[in-house]
Parts: sequence; structure tokens; C-alpha cells
Amino acid sequence: MKLFDVYPLYNVEPVNAYDSIVVDKSGTEYLDLYGGHGVISIGHSHPHYIKKLKEQIEKIGFYSNAVKNSLQSQLAEKLGKLSGYEDYQLFLCNSGAEANENALKLASFYTGKSRVVAFDNAFHGRTSAAVAVTDNNKINSELNKQQNVTFLPLNQIELVKTELEKGDVCAVIIEPIQGVGGLDEGTTAFFTALEILCHELGVVLILDEVQSGYGRTGKFFAHQHHHITPDIISVAKGMGNGFPIGGILIAPHIEPKHGMLGTTFGGNHLACVAALSVLEVIETENLIDNAGLTGAYFMTQVAQLPGVRQIKGKGLMLGLEFDFEVSELRKKMIYDQHIFTGGAMNKNVLRILPPLTIGKREIDKFIEALQSVLVKEKVGL
Ligand SMILES: Cc1ncc(COP(=O)(O)O)c(C=O)c1O
Repeated sequence: MKLFDVYPLYNVEPVNAYDSIVVDKSGTEYLDLYGGHGVISIGHSHPHYIKKLKEQIEKIGFYSNAVKNSLQSQLAEKLGKLSGYEDYQLFLCNSGAEANENALKLASFYTGKSRVVAFDNAFHGRTSAAVAVTDNNKINSELNKQQNVTFLPLNQIELVKTELEKGDVCAVIIEPIQGVGGLDEGTTAFFTALEILCHELGVVLILDEVQSGYGRTGKFFAHQHHHITPDIISVAKGMGNGFPIGGILIAPHIEPKHGMLGTTFGGNHLACVAALSVLEVIETENLIDNAGLTGAYFMTQVAQLPGVRQIKGKGLMLGLEFDFEVSELRKKMIYDQHIFTGGAMNKNVLRILPPLTIGKREIDKFIEALQSVLVKEKVGL
């Protein structure tokens, strides 16, 4: 059987990895400033993570959600403490799209309504409702397009108000910083007004922290930079450092009923241990502070690079917007400089989503490599 040809591939095959380094078949080392789409939070193959997962697989890897699993409550407790959402409830699933799918479904159950307000250039995943609130016609099939979604520009609160006042909206879903789109974000004034509007009009405010959460921006959640409190927060990516796990944090006023949500694999023993050990490492190694500090260092250093039009993002969720499309630059960074970076829907944006363990040394290496590609090879200049 042949593989379904899903992605255009770079000609690199990682077989080994540690911290921020990925090693290919021939032994070449690459600096990983992309973490496989922002998934690697505590660094590849972290010793604590490996130890905990090995210990767990020798006991029990999986049983269904029909029986008790105290690892789930341990995870909920730890996540509540570190994120500041101790009074929220946790539903566990397997991916970011699934987290958003369940968030939207729950908002619809809670309000009895079905229209969703989402934002231009948003990305929320590829399942039915998640892809419908994703602003990309190419990845929405006719089936997905049946959902009732209104897309609005960021930072235009009057337009949001007009839509919410129509009375048929169940949820507003928004990324605190757009990931796939290219690192654009709402202002604090916009997020504050959005929270008030949703609260006043009984609309569920969903913050998609799948990419921006888990310490990446220098706070546990990126929306915490704006001091707002969403009704539902979706998480995945960095949560399991590569082990598939996602979830939603649900405000106490949304009361559960059996049958509303469910999953076979979600919250299994191995996934919970992966997520618990990620939180332990984030805490003991002060990775949230490191993300803030290293991100600030990055901002100062890249400011001097030629061709950079704008530096976007916060902490270690960063985007460099150039005057030209970055696909050739990314190729040169991988094949010549041995550094992984990412792209975005905005083709001029180079995305940086490294493990939260990186420091000045890795940033310096990146700057030097980028400078050499930009200046010597004159990419786009
Ligand atoms: C903000 C955001 N939400 C949701 C998703 C979907 O996550 P997954 O690919 O785990 O389904 C992504 C993936 O890039 C994302 O960036």
C-alpha cells in the first residue's frame, strides 16, 4: 500500500532528538526552532519525561473512561494550579482540533444556539466545526461549509457587537495570537471589550490556546497578557511534548451532563503521565520565565537584521515578517544552515516556535545563520 500523499516534504528524516537538537539518518544535527509545529515544549527526549513514561507503560498504558483513573485528577489539579484556573473543569481529548470541536459543541449545548463568530485568517483545526471556523476555503469541504460561521476582522469590536446583538451566536472563538495565520493578534482593548460583550450577551468566549498556551508566550496562557477570563480554553500541542493529548478548560458556570462529551482514547494513562511530566518540568525548570526572557532577547537581536519588516508575537511564539516570501529562505535555513523554522498563511512570515528550554546561545546561532543567508546569498534582497 502507498501512503496518501498529504504533505509536500522536506528531504530530512529525523531519527533521534535531544533538547533543541534533531539528528537525521546521516548523523547531521539540526537546531529545532519549530518544535514540529510548536509541539515540543520541554525539549525533545527530556529525561524526566522519558522516565515517567517508561515507568507508566510497565504498569498500565490504557483503559477506557468507564473506570476510574486518578492520573486524570492529578493532571487537572496540577494544570489548575499552574495556569491559575483551579475552579475550572478539565475535559481531556487527543488533539487541538478535537479540543476546539468539543469547545464549540459545548458552547452550542450551553446556549442552545449554533452560529459562531470567528476571525479573518484564523486556524482552529481540521475537524468538522473546527475547520468551519478556520478562515481557509481550500481546507473546507462542502460538508464543513454547512456550519453557520461569521468571520470578522481582528480589533473591530463594533462589528462583533453588531453580530452578537442578533441573538443567535453561541460562541466567539479566537486565538490570543494567530499561529498558522502569521502571528497577528488582538489588542488588550479589543480582548477586554470582547470579554464584556460576550458576558453581557450570554455568548461563550472560547480562547484557542492550542499553540500559544503552556508557557510559550511567557505566561501560562497568552490571553493572560490581557487579563481576561474566557469561558472555555482549548489546549493541545505543548501539553504532551509530542504525546498526543488535548483538552478544554471549562468555566464552573457551564455544568456538565453525561453524554455531552466523550472519547475512547482521551485522558488515557500514558497521555496523562506525559502531560503531568511536562507540567513538572515547566515548573521545576522555570520554563515560562525562560520563554519570556529568551523571547525578549530574540526581539532585540533580530531588530538589526536586513529585510525584516516587522517582528511579531510574544515570548517564544514569534514571527519575522520580511519584504519577500520566505519559502526559499526556509529551505536554505534547513539544508545549508541546519536550522528548522516554520512558515505561515502570510507567506512573508518566518515562524519561530522553539522548545521553551532554548537560551541566548541558540538565538545567537539562529541570528548568525539567518544573517549569513540574507546577506551572503541575498535571499529576497
Ligand atoms: C491555534 C490552533 N488551534 C488548533 C490547531 C489544531 O491542532 P491539531 O493539529 O492538534 O488538531 C492548531 C494547529 O496548528 C492551532 O495552531
